Amino acid sequence: MPQNTTINRRIVLNSRPHGAPTAKDFRLDRGPVPKPAAGQVLLRTLYLSLDPYMRGRMSDGPSYAAPVAIGDVMVGGTVSRVEDSRHGDFKVGTLVLGYGGWQDYALSDGKGLTPLYPDDPHPSHALGVLGMPGFTAYMGLLDIGRPVAGETVVVAAASGAVGSVVGQIAKLTGCYVVGIAGGADKCQYVSAELGFDFCVDHHADDLPGRLAAACPKGIDVYFENVGGAVFDAVLPLLNAKARVPLCGLIATYNATELPPGPDRLGLLVGTLLRKRIKMQGFIVFDDYGPRWSEFAGAMREWVRQDKVKVREDVVFGLESAPEAFIGLLQGQNFGKLVIQLAHE
Ligand SMILES: NC(=O)c1ccc[n+]([C@@H]2O[C@H](COP(=O)([O-])OP(=O)(O)OC[C@H]3O[C@@H](n4cnc5c(N)ncnc54)[C@H](OP(=O)(O)O)[C@@H]3O)[C@@H](O)[C@H]2O)c1
Repeated sequence: MPQNTTINRRIVLNSRPHGAPTAKDFRLDRGPVPKPAAGQVLLRTLYLSLDPYMRGRMSDGPSYAAPVAIGDVMVGGTVSRVEDSRHGDFKVGTLVLGYGGWQDYALSDGKGLTPLYPDDPHPSHALGVLGMPGFTAYMGLLDIGRPVAGETVVVAAASGAVGSVVGQIAKLTGCYVVGIAGGADKCQYVSAELGFDFCVDHHADDLPGRLAAACPKGIDVYFENVGGAVFDAVLPLLNAKARVPLCGLIATYNATELPPGPDRLGLLVGTLLRKRIKMQGFIVFDDYGPRWSEFAGAMREWVRQDKVKVREDVVFGLESAPEAFIGLLQGQNFGKLVIQLAHE
């Protein structure tokens, strides 16, 4: 792990991917570590969060957020240590949550930086269960999904950063919870460790039949993380008045064209109409920013009491980030994917 204090390594966007990103779409740059001006802090990145939304930032198609420019450092949430400070609010040594991107060091004027609790045993959790993915799970499930005890809740990408938390909150609410995940190990973890009632492997044959068998009373809340074949299996099982928080569609993020086959839009909207289903997209900070402290208080307590369990997939070294990110889009991560750049 590099501890060079004069060189700043940065992973920049080298080219816009067509389809799945490849290593050539990223470039490792080196430059001097920047010096903070008055009102700024220098941050040493300890942990970098890798998240599916970054695929959208690599493209310049329509999006809710601006793309990364070619040659610019890849964006990303970070937990960093204040290495040098010319800002009255941040002391050297403080750990902060910020948005430093894929690089060893970053400058900040303090806007958007949140100090971590000094005694926090797991600073990287600020990028996962106690951060953006946990907030997404909490708001999408509770505000849009509105689960009621006894209902059936289904969530895809169930062992991942968002899905694992969705299912555990749904269990705390008293629901029957079914996860969908890729592979036997992930399914075993979701049911045995996280306490979901069932987990269906979407890589095995006959997903529609096995999902139907796992949901004998149909589906009242489907938390959509994936799209594609998984949503095709879910749609016929949705009950009247079901709620579908539309969080993400990772199965399509590398797609370059619409999938082949008959147009299924009529089937979708017909089902929504006949069954009076509510399906709502959301972008967590845009839609729920003011409710952050409510989430943070509840989730910190659940984690402290071990009511919400956490699994991280920690990969070492900034240079590993492109490959780890490419793997995230193929289901190779197991838990919240985090790159560790330096020791705490
Ligand atoms: N709306 C918002 O504000 C918001 C905020 C955060 C995240 N999100 C979305 O939430 C979703 C989950 O994000 P996350 O951070 O929790 O990621 P994650 O679950 O930790 O990792 C991604 C997982 O997606 C699954 N996956 C990838 N390709 C797939 C495919 N073709 N078909 C089915 N599953 C596939 C894989 O799990 P398996 O191996 O189990 O298939 C993979 O491990 C993403 O769609 C993301 O964009 C939205």
